[in-house]
Amino acid sequence: MSSNSSNAIESVLQEQRIFSPSKEFSSKAKIGSLGLYQTMVDEANSDPEKFWGDLAKKELHWFKPFQKVLDWSNPPFARWFEGGTTNLSFNCLDRHLDSERENKTALIWEGEPGDVRTFSYRELHSEVCRAANALKSIGIGKGDLVALYMPMIPEAAIAMLACARIGAPHSVVFGGFSSEALGERLRDGEAKAVITADGGFRKDKIVPLKVAVDEALAMNACPSVESVLVVRRTKESVSMQLPRDHWWDELVPKQSEDCEAEQMDSEDRLFVLYTSGSTGKPKGVVHTTAGYNLWAHLTFQWIFDIREEDVYWCTADVGWITGHSYIVYGPLSNGATTVMYEGAPRPSNPGAFWELIQKHQISIFYTAPTAIRAFMKSGRSVPDKFDMSSLRLLGTVGEPINPEAWMWYRDVIGGGTCPVVDTWWQTETGGVMISPLPGATPAKPGSATLPLPGIQADVVNSEGETVSVNEGGYLVVRKPWPGMMRTIHGDSKRFRESYWEYLQPKDGNFFYFAGDGARQDSDGYFWVMGRVDDVINVAGHRLGTMEVESALVSHPAVSEAAVVGRPDDLKGEAIVAFVSLESGRESSEELISQLRNHVGNEIGAIAKPDEIRCSDSLPKTRSGKIMRRILRALASGQEVIGDTSTLEDRSVLDRLRS
Ligand code: WTA
Repeated sequence: MSSNSSNAIESVLQEQRIFSPSKEFSSKAKIGSLGLYQTMVDEANSDPEKFWGDLAKKELHWFKPFQKVLDWSNPPFARWFEGGTTNLSFNCLDRHLDSERENKTALIWEGEPGDVRTFSYRELHSEVCRAANALKSIGIGKGDLVALYMPMIPEAAIAMLACARIGAPHSVVFGGFSSEALGERLRDGEAKAVITADGGFRKDKIVPLKVAVDEALAMNACPSVESVLVVRRTKESVSMQLPRDHWWDELVPKQSEDCEAEQMDSEDRLFVLYTSGSTGKPKGVVHTTAGYNLWAHLTFQWIFDIREEDVYWCTADVGWITGHSYIVYGPLSNGATTVMYEGAPRPSNPGAFWELIQKHQISIFYTAPTAIRAFMKSGRSVPDKFDMSSLRLLGTVGEPINPEAWMWYRDVIGGGTCPVVDTWWQTETGGVMISPLPGATPAKPGSATLPLPGIQADVVNSEGETVSVNEGGYLVVRKPWPGMMRTIHGDSKRFRESYWEYLQPKDGNFFYFAGDGARQDSDGYFWVMGRVDDVINVAGHRLGTMEVESALVSHPAVSEAAVVGRPDDLKGEAIVAFVSLESGRESSEELISQLRNHVGNEIGAIAKPDEIRCSDSLPKTRSGKIMRRILRALASGQEVIGDTSTLEDRSVLDRLRS
C-alpha cells in the first residue's frame, strides 16, 4: 500500500472526533434521538414480521393486502409480502394526486446546455402514463424486459416509471458502457425493447448512444429485441431502422394520459441491474416489486429525514442503483422534490454543483467521496463563491470516505452545521443498510456508524464467528430484509454461492456476505474498509478485475493479463494492469494506448486502466496461479513482502519492477 493510503488507514484508526446532531436538527427530525432509534431496533429484532408488516401496510398502497410478511422457508430465496398486489409507479405518483402534492414539484431537471424542465406530480403522472401506453402500443406488456440506455434526462425516469406501471421489468444500462457491454447485457436479459436517445451530453462531449445500440444489435447481440424507442436529445443525425425504431416524440405525445397501473404481485420482478462481481461476467441483480419499494421508501425517509418543503438532489446516474433508489424511486415514493442533473463539474465549469444548489435552493445533497476529494483539491475558493445556506443535510455513498474529506464536506459545503450521513450499501441490498440517522446518531468522520433498524449486520472471520472489537473481518448481514436482491438473473446457483455460501460458518449458520471488509469499534460503529474480493472501486464505480482482464486478453497482442487496484488519492482506487504479450510483440507507447482503447471499447471508458505494464510473463506459483498479492505490491510501488518462495520464476519480479 502506498504511504498515502497507509496514512489514510492510520488516520481512520485514530479518528476520535464525534459530531452529535444539533438540538435544533434533532427537535425537528422524525427520528430525533438515539433512544428512539434503539426502540425501533428492538422492535425490529424482537418481532421482525410485525415490524416490517406494519410498515409495509402504513407506507405503501396495496390493491390487495398481503397475507404473509416473509417466507424464508427456502433460503436464500426470500419471498416478502406474499398475496399482496401493489405497483411502484402508483406508489410514486397516483397516491400523491389526491392531496396538496398534486401540484407540488416532483422533478426538477437541469440539462447540460442549461435547459431546465420541471414536472409537478400531476404532470409527471401524465407523462408516465403516455410513455406506458406507448410501450404497450409497440407490444410491451407485463413481464417483458425493457432495456434503458439513456442520458440523464427526464425521459429516463419517465421510462423507468412507465415500465414499472405496466409491469415490464427494466434493465438500465449505464450510458457510459460501450456497445459491447450493452450487447452483453441485452443478450443476458433477453430484452424485448431498448429505450435510448440520439445522444447525450456528457461534460463537453456528445455521447452517440443510438449508434452504440445499433452496433450492439447489428452484432446480433440480442435477437429478442423487437423495438427501439429513441428520445431526441442532441439532434445528431442517426439512422432509424424501420419498423424496429420509433422516435419518442412521435409515439409518446399522441398517447392517452390514462393508463391504469398494473396490479403486480409483491414478488413480481421489478428490475434487473447489472453489477460487477469477481468473475468476468457481470451479474444481473434481480429486485422485486413490494420489498424493493418499501426499502427504497423507508430508507429515504429515515436517512434524509425528508420534510415536505425539501429540495433533494442526488448526483448519481440513473444507470446505477443509487440513481434507481435515490433519484427516482425513494424520493418519489415519499412525495419529495427530486433534482436530476445531466451535467458534471469539469474544468470549464468547476462550480457547477454549487451553482445548482444555490439556484434551486437545494436542502439535501447526496454525492460520492471521489467527487468531494476532487473539490477539496481545487480548494474552497470555488464553493465559497456560492450561497449554499439552503443546505441542511449532506450524504455520501459509493466508497469509504476518508475523515479529511468528511470534515471538508461538513465545514466547507455544509457550513459546519449540516449533519453528514455516510451511507453504506450495494446494488444487491436495494437501499442503504448502514448509516447515521441525522437527527439521532452521533457521527464519526469515516464511519458509516450503525445499521438501520431491522438490519442485523456483523463482522465475522472466515469461520463465521463474530470478531472482537476493532478487529477486521467480513461484513455480513444475518437476517433477510425487504430490499434484498432475490437472485442473479438466470443463475440462482451463483447467487447462492457468491453471497450466501462464500463463508462457511462452523455453526451451520447462513448469512449474506457483501464482499466488503470492515471492523466494529467499541461503540458498535462500522468502519467499512473496502472490497475483499476481486472487485475494485474506481471513482465510486464498481468494476470486476476479471472483467478488465477478459477485455485485455481479447486483444490479439495479449496472452495473459492480471488487473489489480492501486490506492489513489482522488479516485479511491486506480486500475493497474499487468499483461504478458504474445511472442513477437514488443511493448510500446502505441500498443499501450491501443490496449487502453480496446478496454474502453469492450467495457467503457470507466474501465480503461490507468497504467499498463507489459512483460514476457506474470509472477506465478509453480501450480500456475498468478500471485496477485505481489502484483498489488508492485502496482503501489511497495516492497514485496511475505513469502515469494512459491514463485516459479523470480526474475520476473525484477522485470516487472523496471
Ligand atoms: C462500496 C453503490 C464504504 C462497497 C451504492 C460496496 C461503500 C460497493 C460505501 C457497492 C460506503 C458503497 N462506505 N464503502 N458508504 N457505499 N461502498 O453496488 O465496497 O455500485 O460493496 O452500490 O461500494 O457498490 P454498488
